[in-house]
Amino acid sequence: MSKAALFCFTESAPQARHLANELSIDLHQVAVHGFPDGESLVRVDPALPIALLYRSLDNPNAKLIELLLAAAALRENGAERVILVAPYLAYMRQDTAFHPGEAISQRVIGRLLVDHFDALLTVDPHLHRTHTLDEIMPGIETVAVTAAPVLSTAIDVTDKPLLVGPDAESRQWVEGIAAPAGLEVLIGTKHRNGDRDVAIHICDIARASGRHVVLVDDVISSGETMAEAARQLREAGAARIEALATHCLASQPSLAALRVAGVERIRSTDTVAGLSAVITVAPLIAAEIRRRGWLKG
Ligand code: R5P
Repeated sequence: MSKAALFCFTESAPQARHLANELSIDLHQVAVHGFPDGESLVRVDPALPIALLYRSLDNPNAKLIELLLAAAALRENGAERVILVAPYLAYMRQDTAFHPGEAISQRVIGRLLVDHFDALLTVDPHLHRTHTLDEIMPGIETVAVTAAPVLSTAIDVTDKPLLVGPDAESRQWVEGIAAPAGLEVLIGTKHRNGDRDVAIHICDIARASGRHVVLVDDVISSGETMAEAARQLREAGAARIEALATHCLASQPSLAALRVAGVERIRSTDTVAGLSAVITVAPLIAAEIRRRGWLKG
């Protein structure tokens, strides 16, 4: 009999079901009651010694408190080891104080998770100035799985598309995805003036003329980064533009704006549920969990 089970919240039940099937372990749903004053009551089924808790942390302010309550409830109800599987890990981008007085969110959230979990697995965390999750979450086992293998295979390489990363930070994702098929890469530079205001410069953009272009990034948030890059690529004569990302947090209006900017197809992995989330990462996550022996304790 397995020593481990997977627990999930309602909103991620389909993705968690997929992972539980890959791991051949039971799936339980965490029950949440919302009180009229906004507090949450969390209840879990009796746990086996190893509890994997699945929750993607898009919309993090709403999800984090329930997550911590569930981790505590699992420990009180039989779990000896509580492991967080957060396919999207929020608050990783604020890894420094860009302006005086700003909180370094990455550190704060990292400490919070260290206090409540024995191990953590995520997919393509936005690590830039901080190089590893261990720096953010010392003392627990952390794993960053990359979605590059499944993103690579999602690209139709028959017409040798040009992969474009909109900014220097995207280089690591773009190169990882381009390498298996030996695709050409173009990396831009970006200056962010505001949440929805970015200036992008893509040196050598003329190489996109007449080409099938795949814009690649780790996160699509407001969609403005991809939209601005798409506008410039269209202007430069790209024949066809599509967008590929690990995590898509964008709202429907933002995705619509991306299409208006010239992006024909937008695809992401299912680390965050949504219409663009057509590429599953469950087999990648399951393989890593097995490799680490996390189901055995
Ligand atoms: C930032 O460096 C990330 O890699 C993405 O480029 C960024 O988060 C995208 O944000 P948005 O879609 O709001 O432009």
